[in-house]
Amino acid sequence: MEVLTSSKDETTIFGQEVGKSLKGSEVILLNGDLGSGKTAFVQGVAKGLGISKHVTSPTFVIMKKYKVRGNENDIKKFVHIDTYRGLDIGELADSGALEDFGDKKTVVLVEWGVGLGHYLKTHNIKFYTFKIDALSRHKRRIMIDENFELKSKFF
Ligand SMILES: Nc1ncnc2c1ncn2[C@@H]1O[C@H](COP(=O)(O)OP(=O)(O)O)[C@@H](O)[C@H]1O
Ligand SMILES: [Mg+2]
Repeated sequence: MEVLTSSKDETTIFGQEVGKSLKGSEVILLNGDLGSGKTAFVQGVAKGLGISKHVTSPTFVIMKKYKVRGNENDIKKFVHIDTYRGLDIGELADSGALEDFGDKKTVVLVEWGVGLGHYLKTHNIKFYTFKIDALSRHKRRIMIDENFELKSKFF
């Protein structure tokens, strides 16, 4: 399934729908070139989970963790990872990122996470792959993992 957006806000709103659909323990690998809108999408996911704090790209710190309060599925933690510098599993492990993967009350979203698929498969951690393509200056195509269930039938 894919969704087309025409502005940053629309991408964030769609991310919000994805956030509302999360049940806990999911890992989302979010691919797409620099400037395609991954962070805009993640900001929506955080909103959809119920995080009021503004989510910014963790580019220089690898990872940011957010407390989730009042989530209807009892999700407690949101972990945002940006592996744009090149993925190194050892580095991720050292940063304490991997311990959250697959945790029942945690959702992990990895920008540029395509290289993690093998690790996740061998560790039996459920993950979904999303991809954003820039079609023109403001148009984006968001491809949603075929196994991901959106709560709202609107999209
Ligand atoms: N439809 C759209 N969806 C998302 N971002 C868009 C869209 N149209 C234009 N943009 C712009 O593209 C850029 C996306 O930046 P960002 O979310 O940081 O991307 P990434 O994290 O993939 O590098 C922003 O400057 C945003 O304003
Ligand atoms: Mg980004």
